[in-house]
Amino acid sequence: MNELAGKHIVLGLSGGVACYKAADLCRLLIKEGATVQVVMTEAAGQFMTPVTMQALSGRRVYSSQWDAREPNNMPHINLSREADAILIAPCSADFIARLVQGRADELLSLLCLARPVDRVPLLLAPAMNREMWAHPATQRNLAQVAQDGAVVLGVGNGDQACGETGDGRMLEPSELLEELVAFFVPKVLANRRVLITAGPTFEAMDPVRGITNLSSGKMGFSIARAAREAGADVTLVAGPVHLPTPRGVRRVDVQSAQEMLAAVEQHAQSASVFIATAAVADWRPATSSSQKIKKDGSGQPPVLGFVENPDILATVARSPHALTGDLFCVGFAAESHDLLAHATAKRARKGVPLLVGNIGPATFGQDDNALLLVDAQGHRELPRASKRTLAHQLVAEIARRLPEQ
Ligand SMILES: Cc1cc2nc3c(=O)[nH]c(=O)nc-3n(C[C@H](O)[C@H](O)[C@H](O)COP(=O)(O)O)c2cc1C
Repeated sequence: MNELAGKHIVLGLSGGVACYKAADLCRLLIKEGATVQVVMTEAAGQFMTPVTMQALSGRRVYSSQWDAREPNNMPHINLSREADAILIAPCSADFIARLVQGRADELLSLLCLARPVDRVPLLLAPAMNREMWAHPATQRNLAQVAQDGAVVLGVGNGDQACGETGDGRMLEPSELLEELVAFFVPKVLANRRVLITAGPTFEAMDPVRGITNLSSGKMGFSIARAAREAGADVTLVAGPVHLPTPRGVRRVDVQSAQEMLAAVEQHAQSASVFIATAAVADWRPATSSSQKIKKDGSGQPPVLGFVENPDILATVARSPHALTGDLFCVGFAAESHDLLAHATAKRARKGVPLLVGNIGPATFGQDDNALLLVDAQGHRELPRASKRTLAHQLVAEIARRLPEQ
């Protein structure tokens, strides 16, 4: 999607085995439209040759402050001022310690120190052995660099190159890309708690069968990611879907409408925005057999009775928290026809300030969609685009409608 189009990133590599992942990261950044200038410490050169990074980035790699290629012989000034962000990946324990001390005895730490701090953000992707990571000196240094304005991206957990297992792995290139994209998104939902439902529900008839629908959850998951990128604390209550959890989003998996309601009620109290994208089954089987319902040989199918499911959106919209205006509720309507009429009626019926209509068969499972926003003032179309683009537009629309904090 070219999410980093126009961005110039200085990708700094310090010494660690995770340098091999920096090659992939460089490719991903370029694929998303960024230009990448690689700068390597001397130790990084032990793990990865500049040749590889030059070939991948399409630019000569810098590794010495004495590099005379720059006409003014000051690569630390020139490279830091051209950057929209400096990302150190991998960031060694030693490099973090140097940042804390404001050391400037080699190019990468020198350019970090020389960067204009209010204009050029510094993001760190630490990578080290679990004992190094847990050491009080490292943790103290991390707290200090964060206080000095660096963004510490955290680490992964798992098997390490040294054969040990624990915290300290560098985040995967795709995760770092997600973090960098998120970093550049305006924080219009900062300090907001957003609760989102997504996907279908599954209403069991017996242990192996049930009633569900074709909702893929992609729209709700895209909104959860966009809300988190916009600075919100996001809880995503998901029906049965096969989608990865967006980074930084708290996910609660449920099956039935009743389970979804219970999870929503638990989290709604502390939320300031509720976005109900889930395609909740209107009815569920009146009884659910504990054993598989078998053919009895009579040729007669079993008779299924149904009962109505709770209306999650209406229940939340009628709660005191929403009625006092502390919880902004957004409903979704998946229709097959007469979208404006149905969405307008549903908004009134549910008592929500904003209702988003979409055509069910045109959205279920798709990567793109078109939305119709209906509020008290009227309606507005968000034309067909990727769900990711629409999610960002919707988040901006919601943020505009929230009371000042
Ligand atoms: C095989 C090997 C692997 C290493 N892996 C790491 C690592 O993952 N993280 C780390 O912080 N240091 C690691 N080190 C130590 C650093 O390379 C060392 O502290 C170096 O001085 C860092 O220099 P720099 O910060 O200038 O890049 C490793 C050392 C060796 C020999």
